[in-house]
Amino acid sequence: MNALTLDAKTWTDAGEALLPDAVALRRAIHAEPELGLDLPKTTAKVKAALAGLPLEIREGPSTSGLIAVLRGPANGRTVLLRGDMDALPLTEDTGLPFSSQHEGAMHACGHDTHVAMLAGAARALCERRDQLPGSVMFMFQPGEEGWHGARFMLEDGLIDPLPDAAFALHISPNMPRGVIASRTGPLLASSDKIRIKVKGKGGHASMPQDALDPIPIACEIVIALQAMVTRRVAVSDPAVVTIAQIDSGTTDNIIPEVARLRGTIRTLSERQREAVMAQVERVATHVALAHGAEAEVSFDRGFPVTVCDGRVVDLAEETARRLFGEQGFIRMTHPMMGAEDFSYVLHKVPGAMAFLGGAPEGGDFRTCCALHSNRMVIDESVMARGIAMHCAMAEAMLSDALEL
Ligand code: NI
Repeated sequence: MNALTLDAKTWTDAGEALLPDAVALRRAIHAEPELGLDLPKTTAKVKAALAGLPLEIREGPSTSGLIAVLRGPANGRTVLLRGDMDALPLTEDTGLPFSSQHEGAMHACGHDTHVAMLAGAARALCERRDQLPGSVMFMFQPGEEGWHGARFMLEDGLIDPLPDAAFALHISPNMPRGVIASRTGPLLASSDKIRIKVKGKGGHASMPQDALDPIPIACEIVIALQAMVTRRVAVSDPAVVTIAQIDSGTTDNIIPEVARLRGTIRTLSERQREAVMAQVERVATHVALAHGAEAEVSFDRGFPVTVCDGRVVDLAEETARRLFGEQGFIRMTHPMMGAEDFSYVLHKVPGAMAFLGGAPEGGDFRTCCALHSNRMVIDESVMARGIAMHCAMAEAMLSDALEL
């Protein structure tokens, strides 16, 4: 009933035409990065970019995120496109003329480009509103970097009723320029923080028998956790456990009372996620007990696994090839163990996330500075493709090209 009506050139031309605006918006956001759930300056720039468009704006109490809804003339499906908006707590060293004006804050994960591409897509789709067989929700989301922004926007009811399908793009300097990449099933990992407190008994470093030294126990816990991962976790459903921080002691001649360990658990299935948490708790507690000490284990639950629906990934592949040619899409063989809070949306709505290659001109995507680096640079011209991809995916997800 709803076939695709707009050809590939419509969207690639729209992406090129809107690129200068996207570059300007991206640079303005890049220069004034904001962290966390409340991004007033970024949200104001988004609203200015959307001003005058036929969009219904929804905002909630928990974040400065917004949902902009474009209603087509027909009562069809609703699909969601998402761009995250927040920066990271590090100081920029790119030397770019539009570098961050704030020490300790930088758009090192490319979310500035995500906002600019989504705003461009909103404009392009609004201009072709009469030809859309349904509605499009544009989700401008803060707090992706560990702040659960997507979950808060869902809990605020901003995405009710839920859309029929959802799509997001993440730029990456470590993929070939202009190429779209994704995979069916798990794309990114779950991410949970571990905290372990080993309680011993303090004393003189020369008389350990009168104390209960927590430091060797903490070291043993680190090694035992690595043995647990290799012996108790199937390679077909993998997990990563990293203890990234150990704190204990004050000087060379005192045995401290406490050692603290912090780390992360990454998995690719909810089943494994629960299993590994239980094993971390068991191993840490019992290694401590074996030495007559105690370990308190707690977890700070982070993002769930990002799982892409095969139907939407197939559609993204078809769409990217239609827009950019046979080389326009790469099917990723492996998931990545990073995490992403678009996972909250994908747990409720069939959808997919894809990467957009953005290696800087003259740079090698294999070796150039990665996301989260203080020197991360991307090629802004690929945003034209991002805008086209968002638009074409919205149109395709609204049509019968996506069987739901
Ligand atoms: Ni990111």
